[in-house]
Amino acid sequence: MKLSVSGRATAAAAVAAVTLLAGGSIADAAPASRTPVAAAPDLPVANIKAHLTQLQSIATANGGNRAHGRAGYKASLDYVKARLDAAGFTTTVQQFTSSGRTGYNLIADWPGGDTNQVIMAGSHLDGVSAGPGINDNGSGSAAVLETALAVSRAGYHPAKHLRFAWWGAEELGMVGSRYYVRNLSSANRAKIKGYLNFDMIGSPNPGYFVYDDDPAIEKTFKDYFTGLGIATEPETEGDGRSDHASFKNVGIPVGGLFSGADYLKTAAQAAKWGGTAGRAFDRCYHSSCDTTANINDTALDRNGDAVAHAVWQLSS
Ligand code: TRP
Ligand code: ZN
Repeated sequence: MKLSVSGRATAAAAVAAVTLLAGGSIADAAPASRTPVAAAPDLPVANIKAHLTQLQSIATANGGNRAHGRAGYKASLDYVKARLDAAGFTTTVQQFTSSGRTGYNLIADWPGGDTNQVIMAGSHLDGVSAGPGINDNGSGSAAVLETALAVSRAGYHPAKHLRFAWWGAEELGMVGSRYYVRNLSSANRAKIKGYLNFDMIGSPNPGYFVYDDDPAIEKTFKDYFTGLGIATEPETEGDGRSDHASFKNVGIPVGGLFSGADYLKTAAQAAKWGGTAGRAFDRCYHSSCDTTANINDTALDRNGDAVAHAVWQLSS
């Protein structure tokens, strides 16, 4: 879906063109100091949903889940990795052991940018064993994947270095992301200027929650939703309940989006966001019904575009 925020670069270009036609100099038209940040592309929600269809098929073919230590997890990782490799990312698979089974994180670096200033976006790719884990957390995983593919399609060359991550064994206590952070040298930790987390962003009865951790990151997301005319609330359902906690605990600025899990939507929330009051944001949270049917396309579309917006904005 097209977002109003992304109209800025186009508007600036139009002003520049008019100024030139009127006989102004190029310097008048586009002073370097006011050159707008390149606008993030609109992520096609059909592409994000196509990734979810793949993750659903992987679960179906592997005993109905994509849980840590199960075949469906590794198959999920192989799918995401193949797409990233084909798009020109430098991918790394990091192995760890949890509960006696091998787990995997997938890290994808986009070549270029200042490697002393790294912006990361990540999501957990594992699910619980009860179901296919499409909202939790195929949704975040698919949006982060599509954002990375959009970076490649756009040939985006941000000032900062971009790194994307898909974590293993989040459902066992953020095991993969904690392993990653623990194994970074202090020098490499200090280079990470921001970590953005996306865990459950297509809930069927959605809310629009923005993590209230780092103020600059929070503002980036809030400005985006303001541009769409959508109210947000600070994320309070699970401070520390997802992989951003691993980064926050070592002092890295964090932010992210969340559309709600097993808490009930209040009447006030239904009034501003629509949906059903008195019902959970996601009635299929950690259940067998967390399938491709358990996704609100509008929430997935808006949040997906917000992922791309923040990645572009914070890395420029
Ligand atoms: N992390 C939880 C899970 O994967 C879901 C969750 C609950 C959550 N509250 C949250 C995620 C708040 C992010 C923010 O099961
Ligand atoms: Zn989750």
